[in-house]
Amino acid sequence: MSDKLKGRRILITGAASGQGQKIARLFASEGASLVLLDRNAEGVAAIAVELGVQGYGCDVSARAEVGEIVVMAARVFGLDGIVNAAGILDITPFADLEMASWDRMIAVNLTGPFNIIKAALPFLQRAERATIVNIASTSGVMPMPGTSGYSASKAGLVMLTKCLGMDLGPKIRSNTICPGVIKTEMTRYLWENPAHTARAEDRVALKRLGETEDVARAALFFSTEDSGFTTGAVLPVDGGFSWY
Ligand SMILES: NC(=O)c1ccc[n+]([C@@H]2O[C@H](COP(=O)([O-])OP(=O)(O)OC[C@H]3O[C@@H](n4cnc5c(N)ncnc54)[C@H](O)[C@@H]3O)[C@@H](O)[C@H]2O)c1
Repeated sequence: MSDKLKGRRILITGAASGQGQKIARLFASEGASLVLLDRNAEGVAAIAVELGVQGYGCDVSARAEVGEIVVMAARVFGLDGIVNAAGILDITPFADLEMASWDRMIAVNLTGPFNIIKAALPFLQRAERATIVNIASTSGVMPMPGTSGYSASKAGLVMLTKCLGMDLGPKIRSNTICPGVIKTEMTRYLWENPAHTARAEDRVALKRLGETEDVARAALFFSTEDSGFTTGAVLPVDGGFSWY
């Protein structure tokens, strides 16, 4: 631990599981005060208690609820960082994709980060410097079969993040991480199957699946002055797959 985030106050969504949870652990170990959000109220409460930080059950697509929770959490100590990791995936060929599933992916993966950032903006603007990190996906920069809804939501998030970099500088920096296949609940269907795993590993230059630690380190980079002259960037953490 090097206290890279000492004195910082950072909100992380999707913190009950996978990448969001790993980011919460790494950021806590680097000295940050955290506000954790997740739709899974029990899960987020457990990690919040373990890390000794604030945690709230919250659906990021519910704008009014997000507004209330962000204001409540930030009122006393403010906020100077956001990591949007909450997300959902439905892999279904376009012809069979339910309209409700399209709506839900846009609502959670794209409008969710919008809701969080909008609610947090007055606090971020009050800070001396602030950072926004959005977790998109390789699917946001390249098409993959059956991912029209997911890819469109993540491509929107990539562009939203770039636009925020432009609109909110110089005090607020905004960057995107595009993970490849990372071993979490979202991809359990894949990594629990040895044949699928072998195929996925073979497709990437580094010949392995990603770990949550890989993404957490990238989120730390974008949340510190190590990336102090970088905004609007899109960083693949995919072992050499999208070549973006
Ligand atoms: N796992 C991968 O291979 C992979 C690859 C590229 C991008 N991603 C993205 O990474 C992010 C993290 O996913 P993960 O891999 O950790 O998966 P995960 O399923 O382990 O975690 C996702 C978390 O988001 C929460 N969540 C879902 N909908 C929510 C909502 N409406 N409001 C609040 N919380 C909500 C879930 O409860 C869960 O805790 C997601 O945005 C995902 O799209 C994942």
